[in-house]
Amino acid sequence: MEPKGKTAWITGASSGIGEGLAYAMAKAGAKLILSARSADKLEEVKRKCAGLGATAAVLQLDMSDHESFPEKVKEAESFCGPIDILVNNAGIGQRGSAVETIPEVDKRIMDVNFFGPIFLTKAVLPSMIERKSGQIVITSSVFGKFGGPTRTAYAASKHAVQGWFDCLRSEVHKDGITVTVICPGYIRTNISLHALEADGSSHNKLDKGQLKGMTPDECAAKMMKVIRKNKSEAYVGGFVEVGAVYLKRFLPGLFERIIRNVKVN
Ligand SMILES: NC(=O)c1ccc[n+]([C@@H]2O[C@H](COP(=O)([O-])OP(=O)(O)OC[C@H]3O[C@@H](n4cnc5c(N)ncnc54)[C@H](OP(=O)(O)O)[C@@H]3O)[C@@H](O)[C@H]2O)c1
Repeated sequence: MEPKGKTAWITGASSGIGEGLAYAMAKAGAKLILSARSADKLEEVKRKCAGLGATAAVLQLDMSDHESFPEKVKEAESFCGPIDILVNNAGIGQRGSAVETIPEVDKRIMDVNFFGPIFLTKAVLPSMIERKSGQIVITSSVFGKFGGPTRTAYAASKHAVQGWFDCLRSEVHKDGITVTVICPGYIRTNISLHALEADGSSHNKLDKGQLKGMTPDECAAKMMKVIRKNKSEAYVGGFVEVGAVYLKRFLPGLFERIIRNVKVN
């Protein structure tokens, strides 16, 4: 969908990829609703979007507070009318082995990365179906396409997102709604800082993978192309991570032998 003049609601807009996408959408002429938990950071992003000439509103939202979603959708629609583009981008990472990870961490990651996007989408969909128009965008991950050490719940949440939104795409095609799943590789954001360790504490380190990754602005520019083209799925990242998606698909045995020996960070 061409974002000019459209209302785009971006979750996880206070930092990283979502923040980069907010500026790209602002430059493209979209009206923005910016969501995350950190209201102060969102206000700063809103100020910068206004500097780029965009109308933007802040809507504080916790992706694990699913019961709040119906009210949040009403609030979002009160800013500049119905939502044309919903970008389900907010997420948390993981650093911990399966055997050591406490169940609360597995559940937390599923709550934020899987149940959050699907319940928010369900709350936005009726209005899109009524208007026979809309685009749902999801920031998944290359970990939605393969798995690796220390990411069991994270990869599970992203695989679940892939499956749910693939099914949704087939259901809402008749309603003029498109579903775009974007799978980033390493992007230079704070994701590893806030990633959950096995005991639920924050990883608190900027990992090598993220440090050598592309910038959020570069990622956002590529995402904008994918959004404009209404693509169903796209991979945005470096040669190695995106190559790994194809390696898993075409040479799964070789992929398995490599991934078990890789320190994935
Ligand atoms: N960076 C990468 O290498 C990479 C690779 C593949 C996929 N991704 C995906 O990209 C998305 C964005 O991550 P990022 O890399 O930009 O990381 P980031 O800089 O840490 O940003 C994460 C965003 O999600 C928000 N968020 C986290 N928990 C939330 C909650 N419970 N409720 C509402 N918002 C919440 C954060 O805001 P608050 O803390 O203010 O709530 C922040 O705005 C995630 O879905 C992630 O899985 C990232």
